[in-house]
Amino acid sequence: MFKELRVFFCIIQFCAALDISSARLNANQSSENSKPRLSVMPMPDTNDGSTLIWLRPQNYQNWKNILLKDLDKYYHPKTTENVTTVVCTHNRKPTKGQVCDVDIREWDICSKENNFNYHRSAPCVFLKLNGLTDGWQPEYYNNTDDLPYDMPPELKHHIIHEITNPPKRNTVWVSCEGEYPVDVEFLGHIEYYPIQGFPGYYFPHKNLEGYLSPLLAVQFKRPRYGVVINIECRAWAKNIKYNRTDRSGSVHFELLLD
Ligand SMILES: *[C@@H]1O[C@H](CO)[C@@H](O)[C@H](O)[C@H]1NC(C)=O
Ligand SMILES: *[C@@H]1O[C@H](CO)[C@@H](O)[C@H](O)[C@H]1NC(C)=O
Ligand SMILES: *[C@@H]1O[C@H](CO)[C@@H](O)[C@H](O)[C@H]1NC(C)=O
Ligand SMILES: *[C@@H]1O[C@H](CO)[C@@H](O)[C@H](O)[C@H]1NC(C)=O
Repeated sequence: MFKELRVFFCIIQFCAALDISSARLNANQSSENSKPRLSVMPMPDTNDGSTLIWLRPQNYQNWKNILLKDLDKYYHPKTTENVTTVVCTHNRKPTKGQVCDVDIREWDICSKENNFNYHRSAPCVFLKLNGLTDGWQPEYYNNTDDLPYDMPPELKHHIIHEITNPPKRNTVWVSCEGEYPVDVEFLGHIEYYPIQGFPGYYFPHKNLEGYLSPLLAVQFKRPRYGVVINIECRAWAKNIKYNRTDRSGSVHFELLLD
């Protein structure tokens, strides 16, 4: 189905473009156009498309600096006239004119005071959803009888046995894994802070100044030294795409500790 038809009229070197969009799209441009993408921070500042986090004893400060830049708006949130930042829970959602606080203390050990653990070779990365337009609302995997077949067993177990309060299952789940069996072995244990996903009270997404989209910290506790480890993290909601040709709901990167 064409969501948008772009028609060009050309009269000798003069072209005018006319957008003919479907009525349905016009009626609700916002959430129809959303294409949630998962992204990871930090990424190398080399601008060559590399996604390798190469951590050496002498360069941890570089990674810390990249992260400080990436996370600046979380460390120094803007206060705006018409928007109040409030602490949200699953039972206390933001009302009009309110946005939910992203509490940096909940990143726990993944703090700037700890150098995001890059000096201890147990680095933290941060995950975020991008490409969300105003009003985007996730369709949660919140039914324990209907979790997707390809969801990692550890995450299924977590949702079924550790999240016992049903409203808390209204979460965009996240999983990170070594891409191949050997990567799984080298990557070792993974911790997620504050939880293994993006809580539902941050949605619908708001295009408001002052709105901070939720972030989550992922720590690799004890990755193996001296090997490139392929990692894929994935966000789980029914309206986040992931298949062989369209992997926008996931992010791939590599980790190398020297
Ligand atoms: C578009 O969809 C969002 C979320 O589903 C809804 O909140 C909003 O009111 C809709 N906008 C229009 C113009 O229908
Ligand atoms: C705040 O709201 C008032 C009244 O609606 C409006 O005039 C003003 O421009 C808004 N300020 C900002 C920063 O959006
Ligand atoms: C599960 O999620 C759907 C939307 O994705 C929502 O409509 C429904 O209310 C949720 N169920 C519970 C028990 O909160
Ligand atoms: C993958 O998803 C996209 C977008 O929904 C769809 O157009 C495409 O046909 C899907 N491909 C496969 C192999 O399922």
